[in-house]
Amino acid sequence: MPLVCLSLTGRTLAGDLAALDRYRDKIDIAELRADYLDPAEVFAIRGFPERAGVPCILAVRRKSDGGGFTDGEGARLVILAKALAYASPDKNANFAYVDLECDFRVPSVEEAARTFGTKIIRSCHDMTGLPADLDAAWADLAAEPGEIPKLAVTPRGAADFARLVSWATTLPPGERIVIGMGEFGLPSRVLAERLGSSIAYTSALYAGLPVAASGHLDPAALESQYRFREISKDTEVYALGGSRSVVSSKAPALHNAAFRSAGIDAVYVPVPADDAPSLFAALEAVEARGAAITVPLKEAILPLLSRRSRAVDEIGACNTLVREADGWSGHNTDVIGFERSLLEFLGRKDLKGQRATIVGAGGAAKAVAHVLSRLGATALVLNRTLPKARELARRYGFAFGPLAEHATSLIADHSDIIIQATCVGMESEARGDPLDWYEFTGREAVFELIYRPDHTALLDRARAAGCRATNGWQMLRYQSAAQYKIWTGREPPESYFS
Ligand code: ATR
Repeated sequence: MPLVCLSLTGRTLAGDLAALDRYRDKIDIAELRADYLDPAEVFAIRGFPERAGVPCILAVRRKSDGGGFTDGEGARLVILAKALAYASPDKNANFAYVDLECDFRVPSVEEAARTFGTKIIRSCHDMTGLPADLDAAWADLAAEPGEIPKLAVTPRGAADFARLVSWATTLPPGERIVIGMGEFGLPSRVLAERLGSSIAYTSALYAGLPVAASGHLDPAALESQYRFREISKDTEVYALGGSRSVVSSKAPALHNAAFRSAGIDAVYVPVPADDAPSLFAALEAVEARGAAITVPLKEAILPLLSRRSRAVDEIGACNTLVREADGWSGHNTDVIGFERSLLEFLGRKDLKGQRATIVGAGGAAKAVAHVLSRLGATALVLNRTLPKARELARRYGFAFGPLAEHATSLIADHSDIIIQATCVGMESEARGDPLDWYEFTGREAVFELIYRPDHTALLDRARAAGCRATNGWQMLRYQSAAQYKIWTGREPPESYFS
């Protein structure tokens, strides 16, 4: 099981120790990032391991490697030499590891480390992408027996991530560290065990320290949201595929809590992807058993499915994948989640006689239209891209129009319920309010599928006008519970509902 390492990025050693104290029960080792320290503090780092009381890594990361050190190599050498000097016979008082880059080969420092049992982590950081030849990059890092090779790269998309994972899983056993940085690398951190990494790095984000490297999670999040300590080689992987916003989704907390409470050895992890083929490559690389699919891939994945449920065919969008012997089968649980949460919100059993406006015509809006039609409502579809509104509306005999001010009179005739199903207003997607030209009367019931942030400009305006309004949190819970049932064949635990 990988050791959880807390990278300490305080400006003072006291600040680092305070952060360390907060996470002591969640981590195994600490990395003192001397490149973040105030200059005066640097002279006291020799005593840090003893004060820390956990095995410590020393790193003085250069700016070009993603760190904060801007002085010359001479100055860096002095810091490293001071930190490793006067080694104590008590091993706990020495740094347990020192991180030395592959282009930093200084025999005196290496000798000092080896003599006193400080392990050398031989690192290479690619802040812009993946080396074209991973084997060659690795050979350089792994040349010296006894050193721990560490390759930290920056996948530029899910295809890069897939390449990294596929390559890492072919490496022979042994102590090593392979990390994908940035958003596209995030699943490599959660799945460190799968990549054979001996150390998983984290940052003290909840303690207010700067993130030490792009994509670091807080140790508490790693444990509570991703049940990191329970992940083994046998743990089944489920993924959340979609735009980069998946890295801040609340769905992992929901699904991982359910797996934990039901005693299922599985983990659910975000896998950001810009397109369907690269998402599938990433799912194959991590040997995912299933996946949830979100904006903007719910329709783009359809041609890549080997089987589709009836609901997927009827709706034309898919938000749930199951790995089968012959490929991927597609399902749609948005329908279940939306129907149940909408009826609860409205306190109704059906929508007969109700007139509704659907804002959007993408994958989520398609599930919304399907539900409204099934429940007997009459609806209007508004969308930025008019032909998509037309196509969706025609399928159910609904009206349609552009997502623009002159649609106001159309909404007036479909204003019992307004359902916001675009991604406008969603965290890390397009900002704004897709209906900013529409004045709520206060009589509309407003349902927005977005749940992150928990209230958007549109919801705030609707509530201020006196409307009953809700976000998509309850829908997320219900549709996630339905996914759990599809993936595991078991009844969803109570944690999805309470
Ligand atoms: P999802 O699976 O969440 O439905 P999607 O299929 O990509 O994601 O659909 C996104 C929806 O948000 C579409 O209705 C899209 O409008 P277009 O069909 O015109 O693309 C809408 N949308 C996205 N960005 C938008 C923006 N800036 N303004 C208005 N609508 C937007």
